[in-house]
Amino acid sequence: METIRMLVDNNLNSEKSYAQAVDLLNNGEVVAFPTETVYGLGADATNDVAVKKIFEAKGRPSDNPLIVHIGTREEVSNYIEEIPEIAVKLMDTFWPGPLTVIMKAKKGLLAKSVTAGLTTVGMRMPDHEVALELLRKLKKPVAAPSANRSGKPSPTKAIHVEEDLKGSIPLILDGGATGIGIESTVLDVTVNPPVILRPGGVTKEMLEEVIGDVILPTKSQEKLESTPKAPGMKYTHYAPNAPVYLVESNPAVVSDAIKRLKTEGQKIALLAPISFEKLGADYFFPYGVEGDKEMMSTKLYDDLRACDKTEATIILATTTTTEGVGAAIMNRLEKAAGGKWYNK
Ligand code: TXA
Ligand code: MG
Repeated sequence: METIRMLVDNNLNSEKSYAQAVDLLNNGEVVAFPTETVYGLGADATNDVAVKKIFEAKGRPSDNPLIVHIGTREEVSNYIEEIPEIAVKLMDTFWPGPLTVIMKAKKGLLAKSVTAGLTTVGMRMPDHEVALELLRKLKKPVAAPSANRSGKPSPTKAIHVEEDLKGSIPLILDGGATGIGIESTVLDVTVNPPVILRPGGVTKEMLEEVIGDVILPTKSQEKLESTPKAPGMKYTHYAPNAPVYLVESNPAVVSDAIKRLKTEGQKIALLAPISFEKLGADYFFPYGVEGDKEMMSTKLYDDLRACDKTEATIILATTTTTEGVGAAIMNRLEKAAGGKWYNK
């Protein structure tokens, strides 16, 4: 299959591109499109044949449910059994935006493979003009996971989608680089207090300001049978080819690590604040200035993918604190590293 990439933005006449995307989706095909978090691979969420094509293109396990994207608030009640009061508050506050709300689904309306056999469904209204324009023109809900091959870092640029899915999907709407760079917060409001199944751009602190107590399970709580989980979080994620090791954000520690690894003949890629530039890594990918977590989340997946273009045999990634969006960054970094720390 030929994969076409089409630029869409305010300054271009994008009507034709949208029309083509809408046609494809109406005909049961998949289309990749940008959101404010990462690129999504979308299909009509009411068409099971179409949704299955997403799983096929990504190589995604079929027990991993998809998020349903909508262009208007009114659509939520079409698919949700009853909308809890706190969900109303959250949607009023954070939509459009990087918050996916898990609620009880009405039976028989969404394609079976969207929910992967669960009775709940995650809904989100993305805060990106291309995504919103597409959804509002289509007038249907769109099931969309991140548009990467399963296991790889999520795509933050159209070129990343092309790298992973060229030949397996017909169309990529190219809206440039996404802003936030890591996936939405997934919040389960079917339990009390609500549980964050995946931390993201809408932080625990921001949620608690609106609805009070919210649980972000610790690593040991995550292992408990009784803790609600996102089925997808058990799989390998965000992994470049070379092994990733986490390392304290301390120049002396990183410098020692580099020296030691060099004596072992390793080629080192370093992801770290800009001030770590001169520590002698073979390849250096700066996150931005130390403590700029927004920049770190924007760049993280692009940097992890860029490591695959180098000869690095090992990737060192410095860490950050878990306040604010740091919780989401550390969640992704730990998964990319498979929990490995250098020297710990
Ligand atoms: O920012 C995002 O959320 C992006 C963009 C494209 O919207 N999408 C995204 O989708 O990251 P995906 O499929 O890569 O991640 C969805 C996560 C998975 O871990 C999945 O298991 C979980 O959300 N999830 C989806 N529906 C769920 C449900 N009903 N209950 C629990 N977890 C659910
Ligand atoms: Mg994903």
